[in-house]
Amino acid sequence: MARPVVVVTRRLPETVERQLAAAFDLRLNATDVPSTAASLAEALREGDGVLCTVTDRLSADVLATSPRRARILANFGVGFNHVDIAAARAHGIVVTNTPGVLTDDTADLAMTLLLATARRAGEGERLVRAGSWSGWRPTQLLGTRVTGKVLGLVGFGRIGRAVAARAQHGFGMTVLAYDPSLPPGAEAAPGVRQCATLEALLSASDFVSLHCPATPETRHLMNAATIAQMRPHAILVNTARGDVIDEAALAVALEQRAIAAAGLDVYEGEPTVHPGLLRLENVVLLPHLGSATAETRRAMGECALANLVAFFSGTEPPNRVA
Ligand code: DGY
Repeated sequence: MARPVVVVTRRLPETVERQLAAAFDLRLNATDVPSTAASLAEALREGDGVLCTVTDRLSADVLATSPRRARILANFGVGFNHVDIAAARAHGIVVTNTPGVLTDDTADLAMTLLLATARRAGEGERLVRAGSWSGWRPTQLLGTRVTGKVLGLVGFGRIGRAVAARAQHGFGMTVLAYDPSLPPGAEAAPGVRQCATLEALLSASDFVSLHCPATPETRHLMNAATIAQMRPHAILVNTARGDVIDEAALAVALEQRAIAAAGLDVYEGEPTVHPGLLRLENVVLLPHLGSATAETRRAMGECALANLVAFFSGTEPPNRVA
């Protein structure tokens, strides 16, 4: 019997590509060039399934491709805001993601950004590389202490919880959480005080780290008004999705020192970064590295593979989101 055709939109770790090739008639993107709307439409015409990533904009228009052969989009990643889920449902296209396997690495990266911004690691690194370091000085690049401070988590799902554990047990931080999807209660988890409003969390935190999904409700959740609710010495960290922050408003707030610093791994218009941010010293900018470890990328691939195998063998994919 002919094996299902699976189109893979980006290069994946070699071992994952080998496992996929053993199970499917695989069409790889040898050049690793990001897909356009036209190439995604072609993938939907060619494959029984498409293994896509965060760089693929699967809009309603693209999903309306006709004739279409694809019946499943197996996303390589937990976030799926790049897929128009309502359109996928309307066309009867199954969508899966890869939750769980990237929790720890993404939480580690949130802590990396928190520490790097607090301790001005980006500025220090630039100084040394520029050959401008003239030696140790008691007043050079003084940052702010992390240990014992208050961390506010916006979104308290898997990754938010993993960040809370690191902050509490590794850095003795007091952790607050705001997540409207949590049942009301004093504590979101042992030792994690739940805030009833975003404002209550922002106004009480020394550090704020975002861990909510990108939805119409969370778009620009952090905007000029909400950033103004943060404390002037506070630091904002984002490893969730760029859309959650109004980047133009953040650039203004950072420039005017309305907040102390920001650490960003994700952007509104990736790979473009707001030019106002690129100019500033008090922001650490990473290129969407949250899940970027060899171990996790392999696990994400194996998770996407498991979803495809289940779907094409007629069983429910373990991580179906639509
Ligand atoms: C995720 O899994 O959502 C990461 O951001 C990569 O897409």
